[in-house]
Amino acid sequence: MYYDFHSHILPAIDDGSENVGMSLKMLEMEKAAGVTTVVATPHFYLSQQSQSEFLEKRQEAYEKLSAELDESAPRIYLGAEVLYTPSLSEIDLKKFCIGDTRYMMIELPYQKLTGSFTRSFKSFLNEITHEITPVLAHAERYLSFTDADSIYEIMESEMIVQVNCGSFKPFTSQIKFINELITHGEAHLLGTDCHNVTSRKPNMDMAKKYIEKKHSPDVFMEFMDNAKRILENKSLF
Ligand SMILES: [Fe+2]
Repeated sequence: MYYDFHSHILPAIDDGSENVGMSLKMLEMEKAAGVTTVVATPHFYLSQQSQSEFLEKRQEAYEKLSAELDESAPRIYLGAEVLYTPSLSEIDLKKFCIGDTRYMMIELPYQKLTGSFTRSFKSFLNEITHEITPVLAHAERYLSFTDADSIYEIMESEMIVQVNCGSFKPFTSQIKFINELITHGEAHLLGTDCHNVTSRKPNMDMAKKYIEKKHSPDVFMEFMDNAKRILENKSLF
């Protein structure tokens, strides 16, 4: 009963799965790794499309895929990976929340997180947190553009933190950061962030193996329990 909290598994909606056939193969790979629930988080870029266009396209992709699934397929929850831009505060962000929950996944722009960026992002979070709990997508990926301290500063806003299964590789700055987060109880969710069946395929087993060896099987199961709680719209803290 594993949960993949971040995926680009819906067909032909973003740079993830290209068609229904590929989505089915990705779901087969998820199933083989023990994943029974997948959160579909297609990219949403406000500068490229309207919210209603996105939601319509997402529904269409979901229906096309669902028509091909049998009962043994992993359950799919609908969400989005929303790229932060200040003008997000002008739209109804509740519509991006995962399933029937108050949780919304947000991605930071790939840039150095300056003091002024952090201030404006935090004030945006302050505006929305009365009705939305933000989930920070793949916290470790921003290390390619900025330093760990500035990511920690963003995380002070009590965000739920997701990390990518593909980052569980030894001897990288990403894994060092993730291990620190795990040790301090600051990483909450695992996602494969799968986009296809080759270079960015479903890889829950990669994180599972690493976490069980380096930390413990209980730590891996905590990630799974957190996902379950969030999908039930319960609080983690
Ligand atoms: Fe993603």
